[in-house]
Amino acid sequence: MAHSLNHCFLLSLLLFSFPTVLSLPRKPLFLVPTASPVLEYHRGPLLTNPINVYILYYGHFHLSRKYAIADFFASFLSPNTATPSVQTWWRTALSYTDLSRRPVSNNVSLAGMASDLACSAGKTLTRNQLPLLIKAAMRKQTLPMDPSGLYLILTSDDTIVERFCMSSCGTHGALLLPRPGPKTGVDKTGGRAVWAWVGDPSKQCPGLCAWPYAKPLWGPPSVLMAPGGDVGLAGMVINVATMLVGSATNPYGDGFYEGDPLVPVEASTACPGLYGKDGFAGYPGTLLVDPTTNASFNAYGVGSHIFLLPAIWDPLTRKCKANV
Ligand SMILES: *[C@@H]1O[C@H](CO)[C@@H](O)[C@H](O)[C@H]1NC(C)=O
Ligand SMILES: *[C@@H]1O[C@H](CO)[C@@H](O)[C@H](O)[C@H]1NC(C)=O
Repeated sequence: MAHSLNHCFLLSLLLFSFPTVLSLPRKPLFLVPTASPVLEYHRGPLLTNPINVYILYYGHFHLSRKYAIADFFASFLSPNTATPSVQTWWRTALSYTDLSRRPVSNNVSLAGMASDLACSAGKTLTRNQLPLLIKAAMRKQTLPMDPSGLYLILTSDDTIVERFCMSSCGTHGALLLPRPGPKTGVDKTGGRAVWAWVGDPSKQCPGLCAWPYAKPLWGPPSVLMAPGGDVGLAGMVINVATMLVGSATNPYGDGFYEGDPLVPVEASTACPGLYGKDGFAGYPGTLLVDPTTNASFNAYGVGSHIFLLPAIWDPLTRKCKANV
């Protein structure tokens, strides 16, 4: 079948594209236990203004997934969700404050979406290409230039991104906004914004980037039922949530983190593989189980959606805090 052949081709590409993987700096894997981290504040700005999320879908995504991700973001400001919720989860992020004691914003919303169905930069991307996709969308005016923007790139399951599945399931950074308007000779940038990227792990590494919903390469075989049975989507939501917390608390590389600034341990990567009470390395913790589908989760959202969201390191207690 063309489909599975294509998949094999992708996997061999994946292996051959990264001959130097062992010498790359390693971000902590989601399954690797760490000693209790202590995140330090490096005195830079946090995302204290409303966080306007813009999604760029790179490659094909089923509409039902786009709705689920939109509902994840709609859950931040909706007053009508059961608890534990996306809002109770984000409360831990609100404990992070900047030098003026302003907290991370509670106003997170989906402000826009664009698609690059044709994968205009190809099916194999370097990390440096990721923010350029955002700038290209701004030039084409499919996404606006918003200094309060968090530009989230989601790449499809057949797109290969440098170091995806090798050392991380996503990454984030900052970008200078292109100068607005026609060339005026005025040498000013349009400010800066933050971007993040997460890949669809369905085919490439569900055991790493959609754990605990898929079997890891090494470790216990028992896996949990994903909400809606969509392992890749559940993994993307976990990793989007992880990047959202990291972006909000360390947007420009001088916020809260521990260790090497190039491979920082951030608010959520500080708590790898931890989702519920009494979790430890290889065990996600006690989660809620949906009685009709058996799906495991720890947050209710709008539109009858349920999500699994990662623990966040709490700056008040200096411990990882899971949502249940
Ligand atoms: C959230 O921020 C947007 C601007 O980005 C604003 O229009 C909206 O009123 C805010 N919502 C709440 C509930 O504060
Ligand atoms: C849920 O789990 C129970 C007990 O293990 C099982 O009997 C039932 O068939 C499962 N339901 C679904 C929808 O998988």
